Amino acid sequence: MFAREHIKYEPVDLPDRANMSDEEMRAAAKAFYENMRRRHTVRDYSDRPVSREIIEDCVRTAGTAPSGANHQPWHFVAISDPAFKKRIREAAEEEERRFYEGGAGDEWLKALEPIGTNDHKPHLEEAPWLIVIFAQRWGQFEDGTKYKNYYVPESTGIACGFLLAALHQAGLVSLTHTPNPMKFLNQMLSRPDSEKPIMIVAVGHPSENAKVPAVAKLKRPLNDILTIAE
Ligand SMILES: Cc1cc2nc3c(=O)[nH]c(=O)nc-3n(C[C@H](O)[C@H](O)[C@H](O)COP(=O)(O)O)c2cc1C
Repeated sequence: MFAREHIKYEPVDLPDRANMSDEEMRAAAKAFYENMRRRHTVRDYSDRPVSREIIEDCVRTAGTAPSGANHQPWHFVAISDPAFKKRIREAAEEEERRFYEGGAGDEWLKALEPIGTNDHKPHLEEAPWLIVIFAQRWGQFEDGTKYKNYYVPESTGIACGFLLAALHQAGLVSLTHTPNPMKFLNQMLSRPDSEKPIMIVAVGHPSENAKVPAVAKLKRPLNDILTIAE
């Protein structure tokens, strides 16, 4: 992976096997679906704190994701500092004002109408944690030599998916905010130019009156998203 010295291929026995019966597998697949279909993007947070330990374990899960050549081209910055969150909210709202005032274009704004979002982003300050995910466009050894990363958007996208699933599994809710481009995050969070902030995930507990858009319950049916060739 990201070691300078050549690491040789060394096969080891598969360390963990599920060893489930077909019946257990059917039940497990269904149970996971039943849990995941209850996940929703939440934009209203309560002030209930979330321990750092939970955030660390969820990021650990994200870090187990598969990646091109196992380069793991990602870095996560978890922020609970209110001053940092305030700055991020202010910068995000500035970007979003330009977006909603026309920068997005009519088609995009129309697509967002049923979601009910606007340039007001209090959740970026109210959620107890923001996790900023950086994609590492290339890597660098300690001496400054660069190395290539492969399938960076695909790999980081999968890691973000693992993260959202882990947060949900831990009983938390989250919101995916896509910076556009929020380049200042690199400077603010001391991340190198080789990294691009791709997502800010707000994390916490839903407020008592938290709402979700009704349209978020509409997921495309299986026969629309799956074709089977057998
Ligand atoms: C890549 C990506 C970017 C998103 N960006 C935003 C965003 O900037 N602001 C926001 O409020 N929601 C954002 N969302 C959340 C979507 O609006 C939400 O996932 C969608 O409406 C479906 O709702 P659900 O997550 O509750 O299933 C984003 C989701 C994804 C996957």
